[in-house]
Amino acid sequence: TLTLDGIQALLKHLNLEETIASFAVADIKSNPLDIYQCRLAEILVRLTNCEEQAAYDSILLPNESGDLTVVVPRLRLQNIKPREVVADLKQKFPPSPLFANPIDDGINLRLWFSPVTLARLLIPYIRDRGASYGKSQSADLSEAHESISVPQKVIVEFCSPNVGKEFDGNHLRSTVIGAYIASIYQFMGWDVCRMNFLGDWGRHIGLLAAGWSRFGSEELLKKNPLRHLLDVFVQVNDLLRHEQEEAKSRSSQDQENVVEHSTTSTEKDELFRRLEDGDPDALAIWTMFREACVTSYTDLYARLNIKFDHYSGESEVEAKTIVEVEEILKEKDAYMESDGAWVIDFEKHGYKGQRAAIARFSNGSTSYLLRDIAAVLERRNRYSFDKMIYVVSAKQDTHFRQVFNALELMGHAQLASKLQHVSFGKFQGLSPRPDSGGLLLSDILDQCQGAFEEFLKDNPGDFAELREELATSKLLDNLTASGLMTQELSIKRGSTFTYDTAKMADMNSDTGLTLQYWFTKVDSKLKGVRIVHEELDNADYSIFTEDAFSDILRLLIQFPGIVKSSFKNLESSTIVTYLFQLTDALDGVLGDEEEAECSNLNLAKLAFFECVRQTLENGMQMVGLVPLRAE
Ligand code: ARG
Repeated sequence: TLTLDGIQALLKHLNLEETIASFAVADIKSNPLDIYQCRLAEILVRLTNCEEQAAYDSILLPNESGDLTVVVPRLRLQNIKPREVVADLKQKFPPSPLFANPIDDGINLRLWFSPVTLARLLIPYIRDRGASYGKSQSADLSEAHESISVPQKVIVEFCSPNVGKEFDGNHLRSTVIGAYIASIYQFMGWDVCRMNFLGDWGRHIGLLAAGWSRFGSEELLKKNPLRHLLDVFVQVNDLLRHEQEEAKSRSSQDQENVVEHSTTSTEKDELFRRLEDGDPDALAIWTMFREACVTSYTDLYARLNIKFDHYSGESEVEAKTIVEVEEILKEKDAYMESDGAWVIDFEKHGYKGQRAAIARFSNGSTSYLLRDIAAVLERRNRYSFDKMIYVVSAKQDTHFRQVFNALELMGHAQLASKLQHVSFGKFQGLSPRPDSGGLLLSDILDQCQGAFEEFLKDNPGDFAELREELATSKLLDNLTASGLMTQELSIKRGSTFTYDTAKMADMNSDTGLTLQYWFTKVDSKLKGVRIVHEELDNADYSIFTEDAFSDILRLLIQFPGIVKSSFKNLESSTIVTYLFQLTDALDGVLGDEEEAECSNLNLAKLAFFECVRQTLENGMQMVGLVPLRAE
């Protein structure tokens, strides 16, 4: 791989007798744009005598046309008018193989890269970086956690559906966003643990168990576990509501009568208590539920190319850790008894506007909050993570603030600073079929798959080559995953996600389908192509004077900066929007003629397409997509 010296040698080799000053913040080993920026900064220092850092910082990506802009007032030159500096710089700018003549733009100086040099520099650079093109060397990008300067261990907790309940839009959004976060961390060199925190404990499990004795069937559970558990849950929940309504109307008729708890309600509490006490019979039923869920979900996630390293769950939290948490809270005078329940008192400890939160209910069972706090301690012991990310809807903002603040109260401020809640907004367009009893992940996947089945039927010419080489189911699965995931990945986390299968399978707008389509087009153009590095030196690069080609090079060089920004903000749309720009531009350069032959004439062009493929591949993979390839 290219070292710093290697890059200097490459420049020399290209007859660029230019040395590159290395700025501390610059990252020319991972970001080729920095070569230009450093070189330009050096010229600015030489011509104006400004400070080095000011020179570097004055250079931005232009909003309009051009490749780089020097914002002259940022050079902080005393007693000279920016416009005069611009005119002077334009006049004195030394001839350079890297840049075309600069353009006067008011108080800015605008620069264009010379396209042929750009090609000669960038193509070997990307080929050398290969699968890591886009990866930053310095990983100190996370502003919230500045102490982390090298990639380490990260837990990404996502999806986390509840046993026996619906799989809703929040779970879907968490699944897709979580897969992206895990993938980009992995790409950046982190050791990633993908964790699913099942809602497999709590009072709803007591209710599910109460339902099982009335409506459960082992046969139906075997056949379709998630559907059957949901059916049981819905039925017992209806029963509970019915009993509660009756009790209410009875008590309003006769005010003297104390409201009696319905039988299902007492039974559910009793069953959950037995579970928390470790009753073997109750646990046996619970184990059956859980195992059925894990097996089913594993298969469903595989359809999205997602694999969890650990199926954790609320049940995993041990009683002794919970007691430990409660003792520390008491010690710190933050744990209060209130109507028989135990609450964490935040307000008393200076957390303004944060109300006390229940940790233990009056019947003695633990709350979601208490289990989440204890889970952090257990995961710290088990994984000694450097960072843990929870990918959960913004609706749980308060919950996570409580978890983090409780840890601070307990004296674990440092541990709390390693935790991050990555939230997302609402969703629409996802609803169960009226007769189905509730939404499941399988419903969503089947529905999307149906749309892509239609697409393949209606467009027999598309993906023609892959249809011959791949099993239909494989092609279909991949298109379904890409289509569904890209719809989510192309919007900002905070905005509302609109699930729309018709749009997913549309070739005329920017979708997962179009990403795969263009990837396979470039890939098939390169079929059988092997380029020897040395031969590339003597290739003909004149084609890059054409705008259609040089515009794509201008996009390719921006990729590492795009990735860096996506990683910093954990916004997949930064990358996906970029990939759409790239694929949209491909129409102009991908002729239909066969060019697999490595003649001197098209060698550079083929190498260019290799770089396009590599960038697309890296970009797709780091958001969690699997580029479609013939086997
Ligand atoms: N099971 C929860 C739900 O469906 C999400 C769990 C999120 N993770 C956590 N550590 N609390 O709402």
